[in-house]
Amino acid sequence: MTQHSAAPADRAAAPSAADRTGWWRDAVIYQVYPRSFADSNGDGMGDIEGVRSRLPYLRDLGIDAVWLSPFYASPQADAGYDVADYRAIDPMFGTLLDADALIRDAHDLGLRIIVDVVPNHTSDQYEWFRRAIGDGPSSPLRDRYHFRAGKGENGELPPNDWESIFGGPAWTRVADGSWYLHLFAPEQPDLNWEHPAVADEFRSILRFWLDMGVDGFRVDVAHGLVKAPGLPDLGGSDQLRLLGNDVMPFFDQDGVHEIYRSWRTILDEYPGERIAVAEAWTPTVERTAHYVRPDELHQAFNFQYLGTHWDAAELREVIDGSLAAMRPVGAPATWVLSNHDVTRHTTRFANPPAGTQIRTPGDPELGLRRARAATLLMLALPGSAYLYQGEELGLPDVTDLPDEVRQDPSFFRAAGQDGFRDGCRVPLPWTAEGSSYGFGSGGSWLPQPAGWGALSVEAQTGDSGSTLELYRRALSLRRELPGLGAGESVEWLPGTPDGVLAFARPGFRCTVNTTGRPVRLPVPGRMVLASTEVTGATGAAEVTGATGATGVLPENSEFELPADSTVWWSV
Ligand code: NOJ
Repeated sequence: MTQHSAAPADRAAAPSAADRTGWWRDAVIYQVYPRSFADSNGDGMGDIEGVRSRLPYLRDLGIDAVWLSPFYASPQADAGYDVADYRAIDPMFGTLLDADALIRDAHDLGLRIIVDVVPNHTSDQYEWFRRAIGDGPSSPLRDRYHFRAGKGENGELPPNDWESIFGGPAWTRVADGSWYLHLFAPEQPDLNWEHPAVADEFRSILRFWLDMGVDGFRVDVAHGLVKAPGLPDLGGSDQLRLLGNDVMPFFDQDGVHEIYRSWRTILDEYPGERIAVAEAWTPTVERTAHYVRPDELHQAFNFQYLGTHWDAAELREVIDGSLAAMRPVGAPATWVLSNHDVTRHTTRFANPPAGTQIRTPGDPELGLRRARAATLLMLALPGSAYLYQGEELGLPDVTDLPDEVRQDPSFFRAAGQDGFRDGCRVPLPWTAEGSSYGFGSGGSWLPQPAGWGALSVEAQTGDSGSTLELYRRALSLRRELPGLGAGESVEWLPGTPDGVLAFARPGFRCTVNTTGRPVRLPVPGRMVLASTEVTGATGAAEVTGATGATGVLPENSEFELPADSTVWWSV
């Protein structure tokens, strides 16, 4: 398992253009973060019944599939990404019967269900780890994790210099003096994927959930399962700076691909196109493409896109690069702006460009304006798009949560890569008033800001200028306009000014202004949707903007593309 091994000689060829079919290729997949979506029993924590009760909302929104973050039995040291039993539901979220009902109801409504699988690490309460500790240093179960002797005269120093993604050393010493590896929190010991029992266990877990009827998996830390032989030191480099920019001895090792080839054979045994999407942070989109070769996983999150600033030139480069990287392997590109690990894009775009962890509200009006424009750009691109719950409401990050309520483990380990992820995890407002704005009858596990009622589903429904109605209209048009999510390229239109993107798709044009000033452009077709009100078209008899756009703009005239906006056109 070397770092740059050649691809296996028997690699399946990329599918021909005609074979590039499948529901997932242009699917819009909505991430539900169960603890913050809807609470059915008034304990302040979202649950599976809460999700089930809101499935009609999701169907009406116009998405294709729901990805649920972990709901498995877990001590919740990392909000469920520390799994103590992969085949059981945590009582705070419900039961297996609830999960079964959720999957069935979703299917009845035409929605698919994708669940998280967490194979890089278990909880320290997973039976294997508890026995590995309890049975002492000679326990054979220690081989399923990475236990090592420490360095230094008395083994008092960690075995190598790796740091946890959440800050601090990636090693913890147990009472008998040995150390174990955890790339995340100490409660999340890393599994040793060289051990055959580990691979067997996860093949069985996949089958368990496939038998339950799920349509696919989101693979947590898909790039982390295989570590470089000998667990070599990084050599004092600034590890956090290197993350995502370089191949690390614990991330993106070529050996991980053998695992996904074996998983693909399992997925393919089941009817109905079950899929897997990799959470793989890699240095380049080209390396991300390795995870979606024809005999591996189906999709990989496009974190390069998520990290791109609201800047036309940067966006164009990443879009072209992503499409080009996926083409040879025949996988669809994916697009994502927000998830449960990063500052919501409404708040990122409200601030000067500074990575994906922002702690200041910035200019919320500007942020929302850009976020709406960014969404219309994303949904006009070929491939599959991921939405994070609440972005359809234009929710900002909550940047002023008091320290006492925070639960993100990386907050407590200070100086971590992530640090403040609670701000994007605040429970959703469903109603304009009432207990926790309709999230549940018993408050919410993180406090919602005053004023969130105005952002609720209830308040936005039927308001044609609202962000919710913009998403509904965009998702419905994406279905109506032939092939908007299909294909593998966009045709950039020449002659656009700096800061502006204009591209053609079959029967469709998209114009995007990432600058803070309006730009005049030729009318490219019939306006079908705009992220903000469009006015000032030369000679236009009638101009309606925003979500209800009927767009009677005479062809061969000019129109004014507002600052920080996107407009969709049919031709
Ligand atoms: C990625 C997940 O998205 C994140 O929330 C979690 O903390 C880490 N993986 C560790 O499982």
